[in-house]
Amino acid sequence: MASLSTPLKSAFVFSYGLLTMAMYALIAISAGIFFKNTTEKETVELQLARNRLWNLSKKWSAFSHQIFTLQNGFKFHYVCNDPDTTPGAKKPLVIFIHGFPDSWAIWRHIINAESLQSTATVVAVDLPGYGGSESLDRYSATTVLENLTEFIIAMRSKYGIDSAADTHQQRTIIVGHDWGCVISMRLATDAPQLADRFILTNGPLIPLVKSNANRLLSSSLKMFKAFLRSPIRSRALLVNAAKTLMPILDQMKSSGYVFSFQLPRGFVEYLGTGGNRAFLKLCHKVSYGSQEFTPTDAAECMASTLGPSVHEGENRTTNGEGYAESVVRKRALSNFFEMCSYYRDGTAFSRWNKSVETITALHNITQEHGPRDAGSGAGIFNDGPKGSLKASATILWGKKDNALTVPLCLDGIADYLGQDSQVIELPGSGHFTPLERGSRIALSKAVEWAVKGEREDIGAVMEACYPKATVIVRK
Ligand SMILES: *[C@@H]1O[C@H](CO)[C@@H](O)[C@H](O)[C@H]1NC(C)=O
Ligand SMILES: *[C@@H]1O[C@H](CO)[C@@H](O)[C@H](O)[C@H]1NC(C)=O
Ligand SMILES: *[C@@H]1O[C@H](CO)[C@@H](O)[C@H](O)[C@H]1NC(C)=O
Ligand SMILES: *[C@@H]1O[C@H](CO)[C@@H](O)[C@H](O)[C@H]1NC(C)=O
Ligand SMILES: *[C@@H]1O[C@H](CO)[C@@H](O)[C@H](O)[C@H]1NC(C)=O
Repeated sequence: MASLSTPLKSAFVFSYGLLTMAMYALIAISAGIFFKNTTEKETVELQLARNRLWNLSKKWSAFSHQIFTLQNGFKFHYVCNDPDTTPGAKKPLVIFIHGFPDSWAIWRHIINAESLQSTATVVAVDLPGYGGSESLDRYSATTVLENLTEFIIAMRSKYGIDSAADTHQQRTIIVGHDWGCVISMRLATDAPQLADRFILTNGPLIPLVKSNANRLLSSSLKMFKAFLRSPIRSRALLVNAAKTLMPILDQMKSSGYVFSFQLPRGFVEYLGTGGNRAFLKLCHKVSYGSQEFTPTDAAECMASTLGPSVHEGENRTTNGEGYAESVVRKRALSNFFEMCSYYRDGTAFSRWNKSVETITALHNITQEHGPRDAGSGAGIFNDGPKGSLKASATILWGKKDNALTVPLCLDGIADYLGQDSQVIELPGSGHFTPLERGSRIALSKAVEWAVKGEREDIGAVMEACYPKATVIVRK
């Protein structure tokens, strides 16, 4: 790809994006979704679901809504089970970060568990541009990660992890899915102090994917060149060159939607809203895998995607805080373009230019909690290729993921992981591990294991709750 000239590349991205969009339209039409009008019942279900998930003055399960305003004025929305901020509350902190096209609510089946609510302070946040959190002008790595890091540091101090009078024994765990996983991986690489463990599920480690793609591409190219030198004698090389390229073509096929998201704004907005939001409806249906998908599930998925409506904009949290003006006014009908901007603005791979404040705050955490792994293996996190994770990570991978292929996303991942890390394959699950029944149990158990101090063997914990769960990497 690097050798293609820019206009050619743009033309390719445009045509492939458009083609994919047309394909989605055909799928939606043949599934009878595209021309189907919304029934009155569906409208009511959706409004009720939006009220359940986004009404600031109501509790959801044991959770209350919170708005946190950063120093620069940026407003994050999150839900938390423990607004009680008494210093000395000795619970671990778990921060959940969702992906595309979701919000805090994708964790609804996991954070609902009483066992988690009673043992940890749980924070489920909306990424900028999603759910009830404000939008950014641009979603570069710097704007997203700077603001998110300030939020996480604020949560650590608000819920007693970094408070002055503390013994600093409490653990912090960050859990990420899809884009939340991509972003958490960047944190684990460049701000590993933020958590004692990262639990990551079905999101690509971008530097690894790049390296795998480059390796396959260059070996395929070598074979092809060798073939050209004596086309008759080395026909087998041509076949091998094509075979080597297959994983990349597979991934390109699964990633068609990423190309659609690069189209001019009007197209992207149409993709998000056209045919009564047919694209999102398809996504939601797929996200439940083979399990039953009721009208209430459909409404909750859509409410999770769309965030608060103008009605929820009228109510306040118990602290008298409301959603940012832009959330309920500009985004109430569709936040689809915001969500796609993560793909457009290079959040995954652009440089994170850390501010002095962030560097100081991260340094503070290291100072207070001591250097990681003192005594056991100092420096162990300094090894590995560029983009390696520098914090302990547990990766749970739904192997039937249609969006992310194993040869590009998992091959060679061991090199990128540090001490006390594992990769566990969940053979029966797809991409949406927080929603599918089997994988959400596995995820809950992994979080519980981390909250309780990682006393058991994670492999055994997974095998006990998920049939044929396999630890494929252990460091
Ligand atoms: C954080 O978000 C605000 C938007 O409110 C943006 O202006 C700012 O640039 C972001 N912070 C950084 C350091 O990029
Ligand atoms: C939100 O919940 C409060 C308290 O239950 C209720 O009074 C209010 O009407 C709800 N808001 C909407 C938009 O329904
Ligand atoms: C929520 O907002 C509605 C509409 O403004 C108002 O009538 C109602 O009293 C509010 N309820 C609460 C609990 O704030
Ligand atoms: C990085 O941020 C600093 C200030 O925070 C700024 O002076 C510098 O130009 C930025 N560099 C890049 C490459 O954005
Ligand atoms: C770092 O810690 C010092 C002392 O504990 C505190 O005064 C300072 O505000 C902290 N700085 C940041 C950026 O958190």
